[in-house]
Amino acid sequence: MRKVFVMTLALVLALASCSFADGVKIGAGIYRFNDAFMLRFRNAMTAESEKLGATIEIADGRDDQNTQDAQIDGFLSGDVNVLIVNLVDRMAAQSVVDKAKSANIPVVFINREPSLEVLNTYDKAYYVGAKAEESGVFSGQLIAEYFKSHPEADKNHDGKLQFILLKGQNGHQDMILRSKHSVETIRDAGIEPVELASAIANWDKLEAMKIMNAFIMSIGPENIEAVIANNDEMALGAIEALKAQDYNTGNPEMYIPVVGVDANASALEAMDRGEMLGTVLNDADNQGIAAVRLAVALAGGKDISAAGYPVTDGKYIWIPYQKVLTSER
Ligand code: BGC
Ligand code: CA
Repeated sequence: MRKVFVMTLALVLALASCSFADGVKIGAGIYRFNDAFMLRFRNAMTAESEKLGATIEIADGRDDQNTQDAQIDGFLSGDVNVLIVNLVDRMAAQSVVDKAKSANIPVVFINREPSLEVLNTYDKAYYVGAKAEESGVFSGQLIAEYFKSHPEADKNHDGKLQFILLKGQNGHQDMILRSKHSVETIRDAGIEPVELASAIANWDKLEAMKIMNAFIMSIGPENIEAVIANNDEMALGAIEALKAQDYNTGNPEMYIPVVGVDANASALEAMDRGEMLGTVLNDADNQGIAAVRLAVALAGGKDISAAGYPVTDGKYIWIPYQKVLTSER
């Protein structure tokens, strides 16, 4: 009797662990494959799908909303059970929701946040991401703490912080809120921020390098007290430009603190070499895992509470950011 019970229990457990997501097909659209952060995200989604026994097909939107719309149409007219969408253009969210809704396919948005208003138009539309504001606050804290503990960082001794701001793509919530809150946090810490220059570098290392080069030429590196970049790739581009002027190569007299967001491997390496002050962990792994778990739950007819994460406003799963500083590594 006891033996039969134990065997039945073992069987039930085995079934529960392997058949959870069997047969589930996820169609995923990524705004652009050529993005270091989204590569981490894609890898996490692929690994989690494999782990759960689901199939995931991921399409490259090539930074073009029309291309992505066609890919989503393809998924919906095929046999996918659920969509994961990293929009090219956040303003296209409503049309994606409308399509998913008429096909009765759940949709999980990632990384580019639709408004709650749009999410509320479909009971099977959700968002998995990180709170943009939080990353802005953390990068502002990294700079403010450095400025306070390094009096020599105030190069012109005016008690203010002369900085350069490198921004991500226009309209992205992370570009808007990281820019706003990083600077506000510096001010809240009692340091007056003075923006020397700012520019949109579209999350891109090469673009940021060119822009930073131009800023260095027009402003003079000796007048720059910090560089705040909305992501690591742009921070690394700025560092390339600084290194070309022999800055941030080990001479403490010629150092400008640079911060990014993401904690990509290449940024962590630059921090280890002392070229970059810090970054903020944008947890691609856990966002990818949560997105797939939610997608699988929804495909199985369950709602967001079944994904196993705390839920906000019935629509959001938030994965926290974390500060990462050179000295802590
Ligand atoms: C990341 C960037 C990335 C962007 C893509 C942001 O959250 O910090 O590195 O390029 O998302 O949408
Ligand atoms: Ca100053």
